[in-house]
Amino acid sequence: MPRMAWIPGDRPLDFPETAVRDVIRLFKNETGEIYAEPSVRHLPIPVWDANLLLVDLDEAPPRAVQGVMWATPFKDDIVRVAAFVIGAQHQGQKMGSRAWDRFTAEAWAKGFRHVQLEVKADNVAAQRFYTRRGLTVQQELHGYYKSGLGYMMRGPLVPPSD
Ligand SMILES: CC(C)(COP(=O)(O)OP(=O)(O)OC[C@H]1O[C@@H](n2cnc3c(N)ncnc32)[C@H](O)[C@@H]1OP(=O)(O)O)[C@@H](O)C(=O)NCCC(=O)NCCS
Repeated sequence: MPRMAWIPGDRPLDFPETAVRDVIRLFKNETGEIYAEPSVRHLPIPVWDANLLLVDLDEAPPRAVQGVMWATPFKDDIVRVAAFVIGAQHQGQKMGSRAWDRFTAEAWAKGFRHVQLEVKADNVAAQRFYTRRGLTVQQELHGYYKSGLGYMMRGPLVPPSD
């Protein structure tokens, strides 16, 4: 059994080449979105507990990136999830819930009170995940995703329970 854990990530600009390739592959395989290396590298994700990478702790470094939770200050008290993706073999095992709890606790501690993100309209599983966490669809996004309709979802952050 792999020992999967979310560990703090560097700024994407400082990522090794292999890690950027891992992230691009995750996006492509799990969301169908195609990103070029510079777009990934220039995502403005600070080093904080809302910049998390899913790795197998038993793997010798450099470890493969098998999941990403990237959030970034947006405006006012809103934090935006710029990327949230987990490799298929690790989905549905509460890894996403753990990253979400950690990221929202960090965002709350830093003074953010709302979370916003974009999701494809046909990605009902992810929408369900967000709806259960208090987000609702605020607007339709036309032209944001090449493949079709998207939604902008937003909701309040809640204080961490422990
Ligand atoms: C969305 C995602 C990050 C959630 O993480 P996860 O570890 O799979 O989710 P958890 O195990 O913590 O929670 C499972 C819940 O998420 C939902 N979910 C979303 N995608 C799922 C998947 N591929 N497999 C299982 N559950 C999924 C389920 O509705 C489930 O709800 P439930 O608790 O009512 O059963 C992850 O499934 C993923 O990377 N999916 C593909 C990429 C994607 O859609 N990213 C979001 C783009 S906006």
